[in-house]
Amino acid sequence: MRLDRFLCELNIGTRSQVKELIKKGNVSVNGLIITKSDTNINETSDEVLFKGEKLRYRKYVYIMINKPDGVVTATRDKNLPTVMDLIKPLPVKDMSPVGRLDRDTTGLLLITNDGELSHRLLSPKYHVDKTYLVTCEHSLSENDINRLCEGVDIGDDEPTLPARVKTSNGTDIFLTIHEGRFHQVKRMLEAVDNKVTKLKRVSFGPLDLPGDLKEGEWRELTEDEIQKIIFK
Ligand code: URA
Repeated sequence: MRLDRFLCELNIGTRSQVKELIKKGNVSVNGLIITKSDTNINETSDEVLFKGEKLRYRKYVYIMINKPDGVVTATRDKNLPTVMDLIKPLPVKDMSPVGRLDRDTTGLLLITNDGELSHRLLSPKYHVDKTYLVTCEHSLSENDINRLCEGVDIGDDEPTLPARVKTSNGTDIFLTIHEGRFHQVKRMLEAVDNKVTKLKRVSFGPLDLPGDLKEGEWRELTEDEIQKIIFK
């Protein structure tokens, strides 16, 4: 891979910015300062330092974030902070969220540059389970729970697919759905004459939101978690 492309992939800057940085002697390969942008390197075995710091190349990066309230799930927004603003520095270019959580929803969100995986995880064909801790305005009756489990009419062409409900305490429930329709959980609770007052996603496919990942915090997936999500 060309040295300038390598630096671009790792989000160091635009093509022209990295060319300039290379020219100015900010980059070394295997201990030698390289000033020519078109130098070819082996991205996995050569040791590349940028301003003295070692760069680690990965084609794909997978991040989990505990999305806080008030932050939008988008790559950019004119007025509001986005989940991408919370991840600094972005380890590679072209990262984006896998699906979306509403602005007031908190919890587990994946962010990756692996477009194919993202597409697969969101495809209705794959029925990836998503579990939410839902705080409702009123406690749910046995009948409400049965209706949510069987599928409810939320005003779309089709009722929702069967879901799972585990009661927690009082007005809290754990709701697992396999689809990702717009405002689905909120609309499901409205369909049983209730209202969501707080919504937090606690798992996505095989991944659970770690108890020690506070709102606004993020980390890369472990190798084990990557294998789980890729082979889901
Ligand atoms: N369902 C909703 O209503 N909102 C979310 O953010 C996610 C699922």
